[in-house]
Amino acid sequence: MDILQFIKSRRSIRKFIDKPVEHDDITKILEAARWAPSAGNCQPWRFIVVTDKKKKMKFDPFLHQPWVENARVIVVVLASPEDTRKRYGRSSNYFIQDCSAAIQNMLLMAHGLGLGAVWVGAFSKEDVRKLLEIGSQYKVLALVCLGHYQGADKLTYDGFDIANNEKRQRKSLEKIAFLENLSTPWNVKIE
Ligand SMILES: Cc1cc2nc3c(=O)[nH]c(=O)nc-3n(C[C@H](O)[C@H](O)[C@H](O)COP(=O)(O)O)c2cc1C
Repeated sequence: MDILQFIKSRRSIRKFIDKPVEHDDITKILEAARWAPSAGNCQPWRFIVVTDKKKKMKFDPFLHQPWVENARVIVVVLASPEDTRKRYGRSSNYFIQDCSAAIQNMLLMAHGLGLGAVWVGAFSKEDVRKLLEIGSQYKVLALVCLGHYQGADKLTYDGFDIANNEKRQRKSLEKIAFLENLSTPWNVKIE
């Protein structure tokens, strides 16, 4: 499959089956994260792999996102702002972009391994901080929920034939991409 097709065929998976994720696969996902680009190559990311169900249940105290407790593995993504700021100064926020690139690499790696994954930003960062005893030098940014999946969430490799018919929409390229300035929409047909 070409890269564009591969990117398009990834989707957030929120329904996991109760099957362990191989240690080696988790390592590959972390390795993909490690090779993301980062400003000045500061690599301000840290990852905590959580498999303990009791802990995962406490990540999402209102249980509005069942995939947080049902995912076999959660990678908690932390940023170390100091890694960025010692190079770029106190006001730099590059670490957010850096960690986002690492998360996208993880999602794509999981997809390549046939695993489901979803990026979760809505959770209590303070609860996770307390539970995992994360010091104030780190920012808690996101959870990446990982697991095997099947059934309604199964998708074919072209990415559009999804069994539950939930086609993912995207804004058209003309609406979001421009040539030279914001008043000239990108023409999809390039001469
Ligand atoms: C910064 C960020 C935060 C997100 N937070 C959540 C979340 O809290 N819960 C969730 O189910 N999905 C979350 N998502 C996943 C998005 O809903 C999803 O990527 C989007 O709807 C597009 O669908 P797709 O990933 O299947 O292409 C988040 C994605 C991003 C990038």
